[in-house]
Amino acid sequence: MKATAIAPSNVAFIKYWGKKDVTLRLPENGSLSMNLSGLTSTTTVEFHADYWEDFIEINGVREENKGSRVVLHLDRVRESAGIKEKAKVVSVNNFPSDTGLSSSASGFAALTVAAAAAAGSTFTEKDLSILARQGSGSACRSIPDGFVEWLDGVTSETSYGVSLHPSNWWDIADVVAVVNEGKKSVSTTKGMEFVTTSPFFPVRLARIKEKLMKVKELLAQKRFVPFGELIEAEALEMHAVMLTSTPSLMYWTPGTLRVMKSVKKWRDEGMPVYFTMNTGQDIHILCESKTVDELKSKLADADGVRDIIVNKPARGAHLIQDHLF
Ligand code: DP6
Repeated sequence: MKATAIAPSNVAFIKYWGKKDVTLRLPENGSLSMNLSGLTSTTTVEFHADYWEDFIEINGVREENKGSRVVLHLDRVRESAGIKEKAKVVSVNNFPSDTGLSSSASGFAALTVAAAAAAGSTFTEKDLSILARQGSGSACRSIPDGFVEWLDGVTSETSYGVSLHPSNWWDIADVVAVVNEGKKSVSTTKGMEFVTTSPFFPVRLARIKEKLMKVKELLAQKRFVPFGELIEAEALEMHAVMLTSTPSLMYWTPGTLRVMKSVKKWRDEGMPVYFTMNTGQDIHILCESKTVDELKSKLADADGVRDIIVNKPARGAHLIQDHLF
């Protein structure tokens, strides 16, 4: 059977950085994110008895099967669904990969939903989120709709994403400034291995539950300014842990830093905008919808910004009818 799914990437307001179980991808802490309407992966999967090996094509490029995270993920789905057939997988992103825009979140969420449907088995949203998490942790947050909390859990069964609010809950936007100065040199999975070497990591963990509660409260009350202040500080805290790990991880480029400084300047001039970043140079700027046009025109004039992608809160991964092959 053949099935196709589309899934959004997501931006984390409370970040996932550190695993307490590497194989199962159980995070050290719970996290919270918003699905992004403008950054999506679309994936078609077909299982068929005629295929003698898995065939994987991502963004027009054939992927090696040896050591492939996609093949490992297909194996998980095959095992859950009780099937043995090999698969053909074709996937496309509508945005650059490996520059900090979380293509593994959208990619593994779309792969999970498409493969589960193609395997002909019924999975609940929770089952799909648990499966997606094992492909890439942040992918579990791209399964449910809108604003999503990833419950950290102590077992595989208790670690998954749940929707806190639907996508129309809050009229905010995530405006991405694509700096695009090359791909990141250390993958997220690799970078996370060093987290416990940072002397600041225990400090972060000791405060994170309280911070997560606070962000949830501000999101529920739709109080944009304190919300923005908190999520910007959270991004900087995660990067402080990265910078002080051994080896030190510095994901920013001069372009990232220029945009960060501009955001602070624009805020001082009265525009309520706040940044957050992940493991790459591209930068997410959060604002209320009424501020998007002003922000876009400022970014259009900013040095080194190659592209601007405006995202609204979006629904989670779902099946669509248009197959890629
Ligand atoms: C910095 O989900 O890409 O974007 O589980 O190893 O695939 P793996 O990691 P991944 O990590 C995302 C980390 C982050 C923060 C976040 O999205 O919460």
